[in-house]
Amino acid sequence: MIKINSLLFDGHKILAESRTKSPKLDAEVLLSSVLNKDLKEIIIDKKLNINQSNINKFKELIRRRKCGEPIAYILKKKEFWKYNFYVDCNVLIPRPDTEVIVEETLKILNNNKKYFVLDVGTGSGCIIISLANERLNLMCTAIDISKKALKVAKINAKMHQLLNRIKFYNSSVDNFFKGKYDLVVSNPPYISNLELKYLDKDIIGYEPLISLNGGLDGSFVLNKVIKKSSSLLKIGGKLVLEIGFDQKYKAMSLLKKNRFFINKVIKDYANKDRCIIATKT
Ligand SMILES: C[S@@+](CC[C@H](N)C(=O)[O-])C[C@H]1O[C@@H](n2cnc3c(N)ncnc32)[C@H](O)[C@@H]1O
Repeated sequence: MIKINSLLFDGHKILAESRTKSPKLDAEVLLSSVLNKDLKEIIIDKKLNINQSNINKFKELIRRRKCGEPIAYILKKKEFWKYNFYVDCNVLIPRPDTEVIVEETLKILNNNKKYFVLDVGTGSGCIIISLANERLNLMCTAIDISKKALKVAKINAKMHQLLNRIKFYNSSVDNFFKGKYDLVVSNPPYISNLELKYLDKDIIGYEPLISLNGGLDGSFVLNKVIKKSSSLLKIGGKLVLEIGFDQKYKAMSLLKKNRFFINKVIKDYANKDRCIIATKT
């Protein structure tokens, strides 16, 4: 039998030696998942004995984390906005930055109107599911070019009992012609080819390239989303986009070219331009 404290010490040491960013917390989170206990419990209860089967499970998770696999993929879950989502290697791990999209979209919506909303590049479904959970007056559609991502989004919609309120389509945005919308939201892949080369191995080695790759200057899919939204949106409809920290001017110019009025650009929690809202004129 080994006690929690000595197991945590070993796990922490292995992760620290492999330059994992938060080795202590990661070891604690992984052990708490193996033992199916709260993080608080394992921090307080450090003298508890662990049986051999759980020791082996923990060592395997530490091995995976040491190789760079993100915690969210190891645990198959991630919190976003106020909710839990199932995630696997077929979808981008929802980021706190993207919560700005949810926050800003909720400010636009009023409670007395019915809205037709489209989420382009839904991935795990984190944006559209959070919005649908917050507001009952949304009729939602979500598309993704990746069949595997869409499968994950549907798992999440089922988990949140929203399968009857969100229609899913496997389609690239440029081939999507269904419906007219009051609102389009999108967090398109926006990392440029050059930036892709410098991404952390935890990201580039594990997250789907199709969810990151924005082409030569990062705006390949962004451009498609803006162009297509121009025909999918009703006049006066809103487009809420997540953008890369250096894409504000590029996005503004594409929006103007496609006859959008720019309402505002919003910074993320790190004070970087992250979200742009525009109206179809
Ligand atoms: C940055 S991820 C965003 C995922 C999720 N919405 C989020 O915010 O966490 C971009 C998503 O767009 C999808 N995608 C990439 N190119 C696309 C295209 N041309 N049409 C539709 N979806 C696309 C990817 O498969 C991926 O799921």
